Amino acid sequence: MEIKKVVIIGSGTMGSGIAAHLCNANIPVTLLDLKTEISEKAREKIYKSKPPLLIDKSKINNIKVGNIDDNFDIVEDADWIVEAVVERIDIKHNIYEKIFKKRKTGSIVSSNTSSIPLNILAEKLIDSDKKDFCITHFFNPVRYMGLLEIVKNKYNDLEKINYLKAFCEKDLGKGAIICNDTPGFLGNRIGVYAMQVAMTEAFKMKLSIEEADAIFGRPMGIPKTGVFGLYDLIGIDLMADVLKSFVKELPENDEFQIVAKEIPLVRKLIDTGYTGRKGMGGFYRMKKIENKKILEAINLETGEYTVAKKIDLKIEKIDLLNLVKREDKYGAYAWTVISKIIKYASSLVPGITNKFNDIDEAMRLGFNWVKGPFEMLKEIGVNNFFEKIDSFENNKFLENLSKTNDENFYGERQLYTEIETLGKVKPKAIKIDKNNSAEIYRFKDFNIVEFTTKANALDYYSMDSLKQATDKPLIIMNESMQFSAGVNLTYTMNFAEKGDFKSIEKFVKYFQDTCKELKYSNYPVISAPSGLTLGGGFEVLVQSNFVASHTNIVVGLVETMVGLVPAGGGCKEMLARWLETNEAKKDPYYAPLKVFEIIGYARTATSPVEAEPLKYLRPEDKRIMNRNSLFEVSKKILEENKEFKPPSETKFNLPGKEAKYKMLDMLEKLYNDKIILDHGIEVGKELANVLSGGNTTLDKNLSEDDMYKLELESFMRLIENSKTQDRIKHTLKTGKPLIN
Ligand code: NAI
Repeated sequence: MEIKKVVIIGSGTMGSGIAAHLCNANIPVTLLDLKTEISEKAREKIYKSKPPLLIDKSKINNIKVGNIDDNFDIVEDADWIVEAVVERIDIKHNIYEKIFKKRKTGSIVSSNTSSIPLNILAEKLIDSDKKDFCITHFFNPVRYMGLLEIVKNKYNDLEKINYLKAFCEKDLGKGAIICNDTPGFLGNRIGVYAMQVAMTEAFKMKLSIEEADAIFGRPMGIPKTGVFGLYDLIGIDLMADVLKSFVKELPENDEFQIVAKEIPLVRKLIDTGYTGRKGMGGFYRMKKIENKKILEAINLETGEYTVAKKIDLKIEKIDLLNLVKREDKYGAYAWTVISKIIKYASSLVPGITNKFNDIDEAMRLGFNWVKGPFEMLKEIGVNNFFEKIDSFENNKFLENLSKTNDENFYGERQLYTEIETLGKVKPKAIKIDKNNSAEIYRFKDFNIVEFTTKANALDYYSMDSLKQATDKPLIIMNESMQFSAGVNLTYTMNFAEKGDFKSIEKFVKYFQDTCKELKYSNYPVISAPSGLTLGGGFEVLVQSNFVASHTNIVVGLVETMVGLVPAGGGCKEMLARWLETNEAKKDPYYAPLKVFEIIGYARTATSPVEAEPLKYLRPEDKRIMNRNSLFEVSKKILEENKEFKPPSETKFNLPGKEAKYKMLDMLEKLYNDKIILDHGIEVGKELANVLSGGNTTLDKNLSEDDMYKLELESFMRLIENSKTQDRIKHTLKTGKPLIN
């Protein structure tokens, strides 16, 4: 059996997402809907999607479209047929009747349902068809969410299920977890329960929605949308439908029923059109007052909106034990919510899966939690947990654990995959060092550095760890979402606000020295990025000897957006790459002008395919669909480079002021067209100064140190400029750039 052609029926959110992702894996796919116009529109939406569902937009026409009346014959040819039509059993049953009449023997048929049990979907099928029919539950957006739940039952041909799992893991890059046929499977059963607990307890304990979101968010290792923010994002009406379906499918005595009861305020929001971000607002809403957008939050008791309060609990790192021990309402709320989630999840083992480990992984991959319920229990500590918990009747898992009190009950992580992942390796490796911003592991004969700050923003400590780790071959990678969003701007601004520019200069110099060491140390350095790889994060990557990149990256030099220029070697490396081109050999202005445009416009790429033409990545850099495989691929690169020799230093022959004039002309035009303002000119001039080589001529050889020096000087002039500081402050406050 081999999956070479796929047909997807239903081209809504999920059908089109799955089609786009199959296209990403170079699998020919056809999208069918009631009418061809619908699937045609879906294809247009895929093309325009943001963040993009396609890794390579030029492949859009590899997705064929059609309708279920005229084009159904295509099903005869398909190895896998995915049903992704609306969540209605009568419609689904009709579609299956058609599919099983047409499909070729042995092909796989699956449904993307999120709530209808497999046995109900399959109730009208004959046994030989049931063998090939399962649920493949993808998460939205399909390209970006790691989780795929494959739901099977006793009728399934296990060999085929395993084949499908392997295909989805390898070709589609999914964390494919096989689970039993129970309502909501793993992710939604626990994830939706958790949201409901977080919500109902906030009502009960009289927390404001801002307070609840501040706890049920980063401090718990949960995305910062929290619970009420997530409700608004998903859609309050959609959540109500999901709950209805759980209430219907689950037994009456299931704990879920208690937290799924309709809340009057929620009903009122739906009835008045406050269905969340897609509607007039939800728990939060944006209000325009005098042309300014103000975020408002609802009062859970009165239903009135007031300006949303920023709750800063000053919790930088996840520390569950201290969080649940806090002697204030936040601690009490955290403990109630976490302990209920742990109790509920453990009560479902082995019913929903016999591997509790899979539940944690489903929460990581499907809900972007840092830790699942069982890892939360491990982190709090078994003894601490039982000391604090009052009851856990009818819970075999906790009863057994309370007898053994085994702090090491957890065992290995990520049992759902055979891949040697960073998550599996870390517990076996030796933690050599740890500071506020990074951890260094020694595994076999090489080091691994994992950044550990928010969005992995870089500071002096991050550099310290990298520097220290170059005494062996080094892999720079991490488990959290982003490789690095760049230099920590808060850290930099703290110095700037005190007028302590010496410390900023010292940091940037240290950043440069460290990156130089990455490039020229005697051992190979590999960056294995996923997610944001911006600014300083990109500078770390570009000065590593090898790159193993996940296909979901957002990469680029974005410093000009905050009124700065790249100063950790970004300008230098981009110039070096563009100077190697044939065009640059013929035309000395080609490379500086090209890089001026790329960095000046802060161009970013959302995949390796987009990154290569900008030369953010090179053709030889590896591209990997499955994030779990980044470690294995990096390790293989190390094995293949036992005889590694550091590269020789690059020399730069740059045109100096003639190139600078050309760049200034470009700036003037942008200024006249009002695309940039006064400060934009200042930033552009500094960038022009660096990229033209400063006070140089073509016959002069500039060294890498000369280039670092130019970057540093320009950076320092800009950071000392109050207009740059205004831009940074604005970005830190709003997350958006300021044009000044
Ligand atoms: P949707 O409403 O966006 O799209 C459904 C599509 O099915 C529409 O384009 C509709 O025209 C088409 N359709 C309806 N009847 C049809 C028929 N007889 N033949 C062919 N096409 C037909 O729905 P969505 O959100 O894409 O959901 C699809 C399935 O995926 C549902 O079972 C849903 O429960 C499940 N799901 C949805 C998720 C989400 O986040 N939206 C997440 C995971 C699963």
